[in-house]
Amino acid sequence: MKALVLAAGSGTRLRPVTHTGAKQLVPVANKPVLFYALEAIAQAGITDVGIVVGPSSDDIKEAVGDGSSLGIDVTYICQDVPLGLAHAVLISQDFLGSEDFLMYLGDNFVGGGVAAFADEFRRTRPEAQILLTPVPDATAFGVAELDADGHVVSLEEKPPAPRSDLAVMGVYLFSAAIHEGIREIKPSARGELEITHAIQWLIEEGRDVRASVHSGYWRDTGNVTDMLEVNRHVLDAASGEIAGEVDSESQLTGAVRIAPGARVVRSRIEGPAVIGPGTVVTDSRIGPHTSIGEDCEITESHVGASIVLRGSTVRGVPAITASLIGRHTTVTSAPAGDTTHQLVLGDHTRVTLAR
Ligand code: TTP
Repeated sequence: MKALVLAAGSGTRLRPVTHTGAKQLVPVANKPVLFYALEAIAQAGITDVGIVVGPSSDDIKEAVGDGSSLGIDVTYICQDVPLGLAHAVLISQDFLGSEDFLMYLGDNFVGGGVAAFADEFRRTRPEAQILLTPVPDATAFGVAELDADGHVVSLEEKPPAPRSDLAVMGVYLFSAAIHEGIREIKPSARGELEITHAIQWLIEEGRDVRASVHSGYWRDTGNVTDMLEVNRHVLDAASGEIAGEVDSESQLTGAVRIAPGARVVRSRIEGPAVIGPGTVVTDSRIGPHTSIGEDCEITESHVGASIVLRGSTVRGVPAITASLIGRHTTVTSAPAGDTTHQLVLGDHTRVTLAR
């Protein structure tokens, strides 16, 4: 069995971060979200992995390389324009051949991995198998209806009146039959070749399409709220480790990871939190549920429930929360007495200022 990881896409919901980098490389507890997917694939015993990449391909290739450090062998497949999940499969035909494959959306986070799901497919070997999870409000998801034997009877995209509470997650298992479905479908109203349409085609043809229900943690990290929530979830399970320098005037509580080469001076770090290599935290409070990337400078500030990417500076800002701060970004306070805000913001940026 091969794996196909989808890491192209437009990432409009994570702008402006996605103007300059791949959303799949946004770090969760200082590790790119894509790496959790690749590790889960390796744990499922799959080593032959295709990664579909778009305009951010250079960053992804630099981060993942040939995959050997993760125990996999990576082939990169270029999708110039994100024309849909089924289009990504279509352009990967040479890599996939007629083999079974696990398809994993590179921005999804699946607690507990996918090994049990892959094993079930190997054992029962339907023509397609989708992974579902119960959600409180299914109207924002693809929704599956199952019969008593776990066969998929229908799939609907964002239905106003869902027939079940089972949302389609971003992990699928396919036999070569999916290629027939993809050849049959036409682009949807949003101009994309939809994988749900190809699966629906298999269902209508009477093919064996089954589902597994995942009862563990799952998030699609495609927007800021869910990205921060995954960061919180991963940090909650992380253990502490102090490899960097912490001075005697600093205080650490809970599980705190200070990477080698990081320095904490006269500060309080409230775990769970991670501080990346080369970062200097001075006279500040960090955490809880906060990941500060490498080579950042945090001075006289408080940053909580946030992700700060590498090379950023936060100086003199007392209350940053629920924030995603991109690479090489500077957030500082105005000089005393100046009550105006001065902003230099990239396209599609969102800023919420306290009044
Ligand atoms: P989505 O999050 O559905 O789409 P997107 O990345 O374009 O983001 P947004 O909706 O915010 O504009 O994509 C899910 C995953 O699949 C993600 O890892 C990107 C990837 N993908 C591709 O590789 N090719 C594609 O054509 C599309 C649509 C997505």
